Amino acid sequence: MSERIFIGVAWPYANGPLHMGHIAGAYLPADVFARYHRLKGSDVLMVSGSDMHGTPITLKAEEEGIKPNEVAARYHQQFLDCWEKLGISFDLYTSTETANHYAVAQDVFLSLFNKGHIYKSGMSQPFCPKCQRFLPDRYLEGICPFCHAAGARGDQCDACGKPINAVELIEPRCRKCGTPPEFRDSEHFFLKLTAFSDRLLLWVKQQSHWRPNVLHFTSRYLEEGLRDRAITRDIEWGIPLPIAEYEGKRLYVWFEAVIGYLSATREWAESRRDGDKWTPFWKDESTKSYYFIGKDNIPFHTIIWPAMLMGYDGLNLPYDVPANEFLTIEGKKLSTSRNWAVWVPDYLARYDPDPLRYILTINMPETADTDFSWREFFRRNNDELVATYGNLVNRVLTFVYRNFEESVPQPGELDGESLALLQRAENTLMSVGDLLSGCHFREAIRSAMSLAQETNRYLDNKSPWKIIKEDRAKAATALYTAVGVIAQLKTMLYPFLPFSSQKLHAYLGFDGSITDYGWGTNLPPPGQKLALPQPLFVKLDEKLAESESAKLGQPAVE
Ligand code: MF3
Ligand code: ZN
Repeated sequence: MSERIFIGVAWPYANGPLHMGHIAGAYLPADVFARYHRLKGSDVLMVSGSDMHGTPITLKAEEEGIKPNEVAARYHQQFLDCWEKLGISFDLYTSTETANHYAVAQDVFLSLFNKGHIYKSGMSQPFCPKCQRFLPDRYLEGICPFCHAAGARGDQCDACGKPINAVELIEPRCRKCGTPPEFRDSEHFFLKLTAFSDRLLLWVKQQSHWRPNVLHFTSRYLEEGLRDRAITRDIEWGIPLPIAEYEGKRLYVWFEAVIGYLSATREWAESRRDGDKWTPFWKDESTKSYYFIGKDNIPFHTIIWPAMLMGYDGLNLPYDVPANEFLTIEGKKLSTSRNWAVWVPDYLARYDPDPLRYILTINMPETADTDFSWREFFRRNNDELVATYGNLVNRVLTFVYRNFEESVPQPGELDGESLALLQRAENTLMSVGDLLSGCHFREAIRSAMSLAQETNRYLDNKSPWKIIKEDRAKAATALYTAVGVIAQLKTMLYPFLPFSSQKLHAYLGFDGSITDYGWGTNLPPPGQKLALPQPLFVKLDEKLAESESAKLGQPAVE
């Protein structure tokens, strides 16, 4: 029976370009997972959108002297372009700045409020006497009350990942002018997280399939005791509260952004002219919901969003939250402000998408931080993509094309070695599928690549290019076998390398889109006409690694 899979991917703040950390952390694993499931015939919906609100956007707008919506709209456009070029195949990529999202977010707020899960209370709020304004979230900095790291923000600590209530921050200062804030009373609305503690704890205990880091972080956080969270802010940019007399306040960006998963599903259904199409993804309990995020987003997806869903009632909780760890860049922590980052638009201006997808998957920070370096990028491109996989495909298909009337050769009787290799290819396809189902992306791509290696060894052994003169039948058998394995590789590598798999699909003489062929064995029959093969990947000049590295940390040229 086919599965129904909902895939939510973290909504990136539209306040700056995307970088490798975003891609390795959330977008690439989500896309690989979605492509695999679609090929397998699952009913997949993958959504996300740009996070257009909150202080990350207003700070950037102030810096540039333009309006928040201008900043957000600019990066939203840029993100759409990146998804297209990188092959991140959303069913819908929208934003939080749509009428639909406003309506759904306000409805969720009201429903939680009416059920008593949200209450109004006074809160002391940091106010900068020098700047003469309240200091929400990123306008405030200080020492983390949990881990004592410096540079924690008013709503979250980057060092330990914990959400923070501004009043708890140690030695708080205004981020703009460094002045310690006064605390003034203001009325706000609070999400009664404390009331969900027991249910959350019970629920989390049942999630033994979660990654250990996610499970561990979440349980510890719950065991330390939840606090209610203010979910409104005194700012002008964001979604107004749907309550008379309080329209001047806005919903806290995190409260409304997570609701985007639901509102995007509804928008997608509307765009399909079937307003009810969203319900199976949220109400049918057989649907599995996956949330692909970076580790800094864990508490919002394993605690706050589930609590909101429990309170709202009747919608599916996450099935899995396969959060990734961080990607460091050439040994150092990625930093956007210091330009210690590799930017996606910059990468895409010079290189192809598949090599990046390859290196970020084979080295994905699934269970621990991993490092991206340009040297490694060039090395893996040249030694692995080009030399191991690309050359295998190219030497086999070119030779067959030239010597067997541009068609798949008719084999003689398959010997033990050939049968074993074909069997291994079939087994690998199955095990790659199992690994992908379990979100083990690194291992999945590694086993596909080791099949390619094994096939190279097989060919070195059989040397069809040498024996063709003396024993054409034997050469044909070896090449038929290799073509069969290549056909399997094209399928199992498709989720990771969609552009090259589609090309290979055509070189092997198949029609149309590879996505119509499914996740299964599709061997091209003897006699199938091939298309003129071209190299799948290009060798890159490894000397470029140095000049690419040298750009890190330099002032950005826009
Ligand atoms: N904008 C947030 C960030 O970049 C992520 C939001 S994920 C959400 O960290 F879906 F919950 F909105
Ligand atoms: Zn901390």
